[in-house]
Amino acid sequence: MPLNPTPASTFHDNTVRLFAYAAVLWGIVGMLVGVLIAAQLTWPELNFGIPWLSYGRLRPLHTNAVIFAFGGCTLFATSFHVVQRTCQVPLFAPKLAEFVFWGWQAVIVAAAISLPLGYTQGKEYAELEWPIDILIAVVWVCYAIVFFGTIGVRKVRHIYVANWFFGAFILTVALLHIVNSAAIPAGWMKSYSAYAGVQDAMVQWWYGHNAVGFFLTAGFLGMMYYYIPKQAQRPIYSYRLSIVHFWALIFTYMWAGPHHLHYTALPDWAQSIGMLFSLVLLAPSWGGMINGMMTLSGAWHKLRDDPILKFLIVSLSFYGMSTFEGPMMSIKTVNALSHYTDWTIGHVHSGALGWVGLISMGCLYHLIPRMVGRTQMHSVRAIELHFWVATLGIVLYIAAMWIAGVMQGLMWRAVNADGTLVYSFVESVKATWPFYFIRFVGGVLYLGGMAIMAWNVVMTARSGRVAPIPVPVMPSAARA
Ligand code: HEM
Ligand code: HEM
Repeated sequence: MPLNPTPASTFHDNTVRLFAYAAVLWGIVGMLVGVLIAAQLTWPELNFGIPWLSYGRLRPLHTNAVIFAFGGCTLFATSFHVVQRTCQVPLFAPKLAEFVFWGWQAVIVAAAISLPLGYTQGKEYAELEWPIDILIAVVWVCYAIVFFGTIGVRKVRHIYVANWFFGAFILTVALLHIVNSAAIPAGWMKSYSAYAGVQDAMVQWWYGHNAVGFFLTAGFLGMMYYYIPKQAQRPIYSYRLSIVHFWALIFTYMWAGPHHLHYTALPDWAQSIGMLFSLVLLAPSWGGMINGMMTLSGAWHKLRDDPILKFLIVSLSFYGMSTFEGPMMSIKTVNALSHYTDWTIGHVHSGALGWVGLISMGCLYHLIPRMVGRTQMHSVRAIELHFWVATLGIVLYIAAMWIAGVMQGLMWRAVNADGTLVYSFVESVKATWPFYFIRFVGGVLYLGGMAIMAWNVVMTARSGRVAPIPVPVMPSAARA
């Protein structure tokens, strides 16, 4: 019989729990701001003439809150949960993990204050000023120490594929953040980028695209590889495919950034490389999607009555959709139509609401009850309701933006026989109004789903009991 030579220990789940609760809270805040800016685009009077409530300041607040606060806290919670379970050891340096939690909350609060006040570096998804950037770098290095430290002291010989994805996400985000944020301070909340002109744009969109690839994709794929098999109680469809998926995805993403700079001062060959790698990216993206979906083969019936699986599997369909659409939009001639229009916003939110949002919610629904000594959430029917409300919200949001986007693109390029424009810009804005309204309704529904989730989480936490979970004894053959 296998014996465990190490003293009995328990998992360090305190940080996991805190991050999971924070994810729900920041999800509500970030999406509320999303709904507010959607309303401002529909009814501009809602800017109220107050600078800190104006669209230009709230938009980066929305993107930072949903990506880095909601998405970020979900990634921290799940990666700390998964790495302990798959390595069969408690977190390495748990005090440092707690610092990561409080440090990240400090970053979020600093963003929530400085962005409405108008402090910004003007780089999308990297708006925060240099003192906050330094705090992010410090917290991130501590995160890396805790995560890789846990892998270093693991009791299981092999490193499960979810950890490869989390690891790549952690290393790459560190690299992206440090390189893109390089700046020369000119005061406490003012700085100038270390790069100039087209180089600045190139570095920014190398960062921007890989923020999508690694922050909004690789880490969430890590979640997919752990939580879908767990929830479906089936092994992953193909372990071999997961390894090919990993290397192909991380290699290809790095080169696709220039598709954000088509028809700009960036050299044409660099734009073409961006387009080429974006087209290639379809293959690993779909390889991953198929691997996740096929995990359910032979057990599709589970989808009927398990709403958590619905969240997880439908998120993969949206992942497949947005990773088909993205490569198409990267083709220069298609981009000539889609760029600057709401088509891009539709693409973003099919990835953000459909993929990132739904998979986060599914994983949190799996994780949270287990963190308070329960096997499931307080109300399974409320999860089902959340799923349908959110899905309807996404469909309204993205369908409205696709129609609006293609319409705008066609209106802007329509010319009369004498070469003058058929439509003035304001005519295209007027034609877009109904679609902005539909998007607003979709956003309210999606936010409503989050409110249902928050209620369910509070009820689950109140009726649960926090008790340390022992690290199971490992069979000696599998030990590192
Ligand atoms: C194979 C995968 C993908 C490719 C090749 C791709 C490609 C593209 C292209 C061509 C654009 C338009 C650039 C422009 O005209 O300015 C774009 C924008 C964007 N995509 Fe994707 N996409 C992919 C997947 C995703 C996913 C899964 C998400 C979200 C989770 C996402 C989030 C975004 C965001 C946030 C933008 C807007 C960037 C900005 O201008 O601020 N993409 N993508
Ligand atoms: C209730 C849900 C949401 C609503 C109503 C909403 C609404 C909006 C609006 C109105 C914009 C500005 C569009 C524009 O400038 O024309 C926007 C931008 C953006 N949102 Fe959301 N959003 C929601 C949820 C999310 C989530 C969950 C994420 C990510 C996980 C996200 C990521 C983004 C990004 C990356 C952009 C910038 C897109 C770009 O620059 O191309 N949003 N959102």
